[in-house]
Amino acid sequence: MRITQKKNVADLACEYHIASGNSPWLLKTPSLRQVNFSEHVQELMEEGPRQIESPIGNVQFESCDHPVDMSLADVLAKRRSSREFSTQPLNADKFGKLLALSNGLRIKAGNGTDLNRNAPSAGNLGSCEMYVLSVNMQGVDKGLYHYDVPSHQLKLIKAGDFKEWISRMLLLQAELSEAGALIFLASNQARLRSKYGPRAYRLGLLDAGHVSENIYLVSAALGLAVTATGGFIDDELNSALNLDGVDDCVVLVLAVGEPG
Ligand SMILES: Cc1cc2nc3c(=O)[nH]c(=O)nc-3n(C[C@H](O)[C@H](O)[C@H](O)COP(=O)(O)O)c2cc1C
Repeated sequence: MRITQKKNVADLACEYHIASGNSPWLLKTPSLRQVNFSEHVQELMEEGPRQIESPIGNVQFESCDHPVDMSLADVLAKRRSSREFSTQPLNADKFGKLLALSNGLRIKAGNGTDLNRNAPSAGNLGSCEMYVLSVNMQGVDKGLYHYDVPSHQLKLIKAGDFKEWISRMLLLQAELSEAGALIFLASNQARLRSKYGPRAYRLGLLDAGHVSENIYLVSAALGLAVTATGGFIDDELNSALNLDGVDDCVVLVLAVGEPG
């Protein structure tokens, strides 16, 4: 059964996939090598994460000096999707740690001062942005925020109780509105497209997938419950976050909370 109302969308998705494939002739194109060193691509890499200015209601997280202490094997064994959340508010320190370790900046391994992200990303362009809806958090007022990577802050987009809105925006998943917070992974497609052209869409999804897995693993290590969902109404969510849905679009939602 097709679960979309839009005519021929499945066919268009197949066409897109085929049309955005790399052909062997690319290897004979000198510009393929040059593009990595071109001025505009260097500028993109140096541009850094997105910053949204907000004069009020911002939340500064504690610095993340003591990360998690659990073996990778144990974290992998503990990782699971859990849809049962406690009514206890989500601990803000743990949540700040979760954001920073999943997609924050760190000094590049083996390299004194250069920074890159805790998640791999195509061309090191860091295309995946994190937005947050605080539903039931300790020390963070309810509302929509953008996670500002360099300052380790949540920047307020809109204050308010969005619980009722969540049940309209998520498809048939009312239980996720009991989470402490929702994390929206948004793909900065414009950034990727200016380097990769039509292949950007594939790469943006992969970048978000890596961040999502980090969120799962760090949640497991911090003892938080988490589940991802692709079931949301795109227009509803993008417009709440002031994203145009084309150059910037939410591609995955993760519900996080204290375990129930
Ligand atoms: C891209 C993606 C989308 C998902 N969408 C949903 C969803 O809409 N609803 C849900 O309850 N779980 C969703 N999940 C969670 C999966 O159902 C879950 O990962 C899978 O059942 C395996 O269970 P585990 O994560 O506990 O190993 C999603 C997971 C991923 C990676």
